[in-house]
Amino acid sequence: MKSQDVRKQFLEFFKSKEHLIVPSAPIVLKDDPTLMFNNSGMAQFKEYFLGNGTPKSPRIADTQKCLRVSGKHNDLEDVGFDTYHHTMFEMLGNWSFGDYFKKEAINWAWELLTEVYKIPKENLYVSVFEGSKEDNVPFDQEAWDIWKTLIDEDRIILGNKKDNFWEMGDQGPCGPCSEIHVDLRPEAEKLLVSGKSLVNNDHPQVVEIWNNVFMEFNRKADGSLEKLPAQHVDTGMGFERLCMALQGKTSNYDTDVFTPLIEKVEQITGLKYTSNEVKNISEEQNKTNIAIRVVVDHVRAVAFAIADGQLPSNTGAGYVIRRILRRAIRYGFTFLNTKEPFINKLVEVLANQMGEFFPEIKSQQQFVTNVIREEEASFLRTLDQGLQLLENVVAETKGKEVSGAKAFELYDTFGFPIDLTALILREKGFDLDEAGFNAAMQEQKNRSRAASEVSTEDWSVLISGNVETFVGYDQVENEVKITRIRKVDSKKDGILYQIVLDNTPFYPEGGGQVGDKGTLVSANETIAIIDTKKENNLILHFTKQLPENVNASFVAKVNTDLRLATAKNHSATHLMHQALRSILGTHVEQKGSLVNSNNLRFDFSHFSKVTDEEIKQVEDFVNARIQEQLPLIERRNIPIQQALDEGAMALFGEKYGDNVRAIKFGQSMELCGGIHVKNTAEIWHFKIISEGAVAAGIRRIEAITGDAVKNFYANQEHTLAEIKETLKNPQDVLKSVASLQDDNAKLKKQIEQLLKEKIEGLKNTLIADFQEINGLNFLAKQVDLSMSSTKDLAQALGSSKPNSFVFLASIEDNAPNIHCYISKELVAEKLLNAGNVIRELGKYIDGNGGGQPFFASGKGKNASGIKEALNKAIEFVN
Ligand code: ALA
Repeated sequence: MKSQDVRKQFLEFFKSKEHLIVPSAPIVLKDDPTLMFNNSGMAQFKEYFLGNGTPKSPRIADTQKCLRVSGKHNDLEDVGFDTYHHTMFEMLGNWSFGDYFKKEAINWAWELLTEVYKIPKENLYVSVFEGSKEDNVPFDQEAWDIWKTLIDEDRIILGNKKDNFWEMGDQGPCGPCSEIHVDLRPEAEKLLVSGKSLVNNDHPQVVEIWNNVFMEFNRKADGSLEKLPAQHVDTGMGFERLCMALQGKTSNYDTDVFTPLIEKVEQITGLKYTSNEVKNISEEQNKTNIAIRVVVDHVRAVAFAIADGQLPSNTGAGYVIRRILRRAIRYGFTFLNTKEPFINKLVEVLANQMGEFFPEIKSQQQFVTNVIREEEASFLRTLDQGLQLLENVVAETKGKEVSGAKAFELYDTFGFPIDLTALILREKGFDLDEAGFNAAMQEQKNRSRAASEVSTEDWSVLISGNVETFVGYDQVENEVKITRIRKVDSKKDGILYQIVLDNTPFYPEGGGQVGDKGTLVSANETIAIIDTKKENNLILHFTKQLPENVNASFVAKVNTDLRLATAKNHSATHLMHQALRSILGTHVEQKGSLVNSNNLRFDFSHFSKVTDEEIKQVEDFVNARIQEQLPLIERRNIPIQQALDEGAMALFGEKYGDNVRAIKFGQSMELCGGIHVKNTAEIWHFKIISEGAVAAGIRRIEAITGDAVKNFYANQEHTLAEIKETLKNPQDVLKSVASLQDDNAKLKKQIEQLLKEKIEGLKNTLIADFQEINGLNFLAKQVDLSMSSTKDLAQALGSSKPNSFVFLASIEDNAPNIHCYISKELVAEKLLNAGNVIRELGKYIDGNGGGQPFFASGKGKNASGIKEALNKAIEFVN
């Protein structure tokens, strides 16, 4: 069965059981501060389990792109070494939100595996939660009894909290689970060792394929469990492992999910991958296999993350993506001998293979390829530099062990991977002080953990069962009640409180637009709301201080000055997006956006600099739309397909519902949840203030609107007035500046001439001061010249006599400088070295410097040391 069909059959099966099939959520999470990436199918439904919000259907099924590379579930370092772990994988899942429970979930799982997929029953084992005293959760008798009706009792295994109690993180929804394992070993092996004894024992062919979680609890901040308002089902089946089982393979990498990618790597590198069936392979071949697995696994994670809008970068989720890609580049570099970018060439294969089900990869194929290619090229340069630096480290190392601190510096500053350092050192016959490296690493981790530590308390619920509504499209002020409060203590921001209201006019940060600020006002007090953010389905209002009476009625008031300025920038962003696409071309796609009350920042795909002429055209385009006074046409709650058919622009990596909001100004139409002006005339004027590159193929424009433009021009005018005044109010400022520049050039020439004459004069005077010492012509003097003229003079004097040793010093801007000239023949015969002279004598002026053996210069801080330095110079010739 082809992998495409495996996926289809899963979805069809659950459709037949009245499940709504939904698309995968983006792999990168936007509104969950506890998670960077979707690490399981249920992440997007987390809040439904907790009782915040209602899903579109009580039964849902999908395949979810998941990434387990950070936080509680992190498989990164395993990938490549075994045959069944991945960074990105697809999780097939079915969910019940307060609907069916264990009986249906277990029976359907069994029906699908044994009757639809026809996995022989004797290859399957299941596990059931044995209970936990610590958490006061009993043995899952109910699951056991249901399984008993389907499978021999001796194929049911009891599992502990680690294996059979699933939690998404330290806090949040959780519950006992029942796993299904498959034994894919050959019959002979099965006779020798029972599959049952290998379950949960890291055997590559006895693996878990499906986890059925019975969500009943919420893990609170203090570690205790509380019952959820309803019982839910959350299941996850590893798609790649299922394909392995159904295609009769013993490695995920031997299925058609991976073979096309592997073939491409073989074609590029000229190396061969051996399937898991080939036994007794050489150490060399094993390394090649590992590296190929790393590459074909990692390219999927990286390509899908980029397609969902997460570019590689130096912080947060972007850094995780960069590290994954670098791990792949480094394995290629070391074990596949790839010294040129090559991983980007796999994107085409991936797009052909997965593009039908995940169109985002197909439609952004070129962009993803380019971004990966640039990342590869830049990291390969780093590797090159790192190799050179490593040479220096080795050269400086006394003994056979390279210090851990040095290796850490390479890793930390240049991103040079530690395992590569160790490998190269080993090849050169050196050891690495690993303990020292680990200690330096730990120290850094502790530092950054301390800096980012956040502790979040549980919610105090004041009013339960309320579903918060956002009323901010129509109102900026509203009567509200507080429904829940939570305290958050972070190293970065100190103690803050998050408040949830029964309904709110405050816009939560999203779609690039910052959150509203404002106040909560009751009869007796006013508290400031300093930010508003969305977390899953809740709108959180941040405050430094809680009201005394949290049960009072409040009026929530949005700061309308900030909001209007922000709205202008947001609407202008839409108009600029339209302008860029019509002026630069439709390859322009939004890759990032920030809209606040001061300005707007927009990142987009485009492969060359936006020229001054194009910038002008974009400004004119937007300003023309402003002058046309286009009214806002807001379509709330229209079916997404209708909006798309009408030409609305959607963004990759955004999660849209069935019904969406579309914002239209003339021909500009975008799916958007943000705040906009009622008419483009309100924007007043639009001005681009900067354009530049942010990453490979991505440009950034910053622009301003409204009052900010007025202030911008006022500032310009003020500066111009000041220039005029400085120039004594000439008729024509430009002419006046040009004539100043002319004068300046003429004066420069004259000064150069005068200096030359001065140096020549000094040279002629000082020639008389040469002393003959030990057959050398020696001169040491302080002169009154600039540093560069002193240097010229030292050279002129030095070359005026044979066998000369000239040492000159001067002071410029209170800082002493010294220069030493030694005739080439002295350097050759007497092994004198001007660089050494400068280093030695530099000490007297608190300075340093260097250069060539026949000429060197230095600079210092202590001018009073010049005399001493001049006196000591003679020691070199003595
Ligand atoms: N949420 C469960 C898992 O990820 C199904 O294993």
